Amino acid sequence: MDVQRIGVVGLGAMGAGIAQVATEAGFDVVGREVTADLGDAATARIGHFLTRKVEKGQRTEEERAAAMSRLTTTTDLSGLADCDLVVEAIVEELGAKRELFEELERVCRPDAVLATNTSALSVTEIAAATTSPERVVGMHFFNPAPLMPLVEVVRAELSSDDAVATALGVVERLGKVAVPCHDTPGFVVNRILIPLLNDCVRALDEARVTPEALDAAMTNGAGWPMGPCTLVDLVGIDVHVHASEALYEKLREPRMAPPPRLVAMRNAGLLGRKSGRGFYTYT
Ligand code: CAA
Repeated sequence: MDVQRIGVVGLGAMGAGIAQVATEAGFDVVGREVTADLGDAATARIGHFLTRKVEKGQRTEEERAAAMSRLTTTTDLSGLADCDLVVEAIVEELGAKRELFEELERVCRPDAVLATNTSALSVTEIAAATTSPERVVGMHFFNPAPLMPLVEVVRAELSSDDAVATALGVVERLGKVAVPCHDTPGFVVNRILIPLLNDCVRALDEARVTPEALDAAMTNGAGWPMGPCTLVDLVGIDVHVHASEALYEKLREPRMAPPPRLVAMRNAGLLGRKSGRGFYTYT
């Protein structure tokens, strides 16, 4: 399908990043948030990052203005009725996602492709909430979405070739790198990255080093662009713990289980950058 208009449901860090990338690539974008204030905050966030690009000479003021004019927000799901593709980026809870897909099926055109940005839930189980699972795929962006080139395009059990081809075509137009894969727990990257980050957190306690020292070890000794503690803070400790639990539930490998230290941090509201405190403190 020739996609012109993309809907993004949930404009948190991931959804706002996806909306930014889509509007920069020339798509019309409708973002849906539960309140107008959250929609405005996401628009301001996108505006800020595009302004930085203008200041750094990466975009012209006209390009920024054009990108912002292609972006609208709504609190009403039926605002997505004209979209050719909808990407869901709401909370990582199967029940909430299944409810949303049921509603999306009701409000969207029957030929629209419905994509989930889930990190570790089963796309097949999300698709099963609809009566048209063939049009459901995974489009898994990485955090921060505007900077990370990869999008995993996930074929669920009943995804049609057309839906997968549409998602792949959009990823190409976004200027990103697509890796098509099947719907297995954690897909490709999180299947590897989640247990690896869990190992890093366990090493923190076993080797009795500080987060700063562990980050220095992995950036200087393994060439990581950012250290594991910085990365978990960026991803969000709640998101990481949830992804670990989801993988552990499916695969039963001890390394997948979230380290107790991370669970305690999550329960204490130390969620990383978004809460102002995780391994590090943010102002
Ligand atoms: N959204 C939009 N734009 C952003 C942004 C964001 N969240 N964060 C930064 N930017 C923009 C800013 O304008 C920034 O420039 P200024 O600071 O001058 O304003 C510009 O991008 C460059 O930012 P940085 O200087 O921070 O960029 P960098 O060169 O240091 O690289 C990085 C940053 C790409 C994030 C790099 O550190 C990196 O690759 N880190 C690893 C990230 C990673 O592994 N992500 C995957 C997480 S796992 C995941 O996402 C899966 C999951 O399901 C949980």
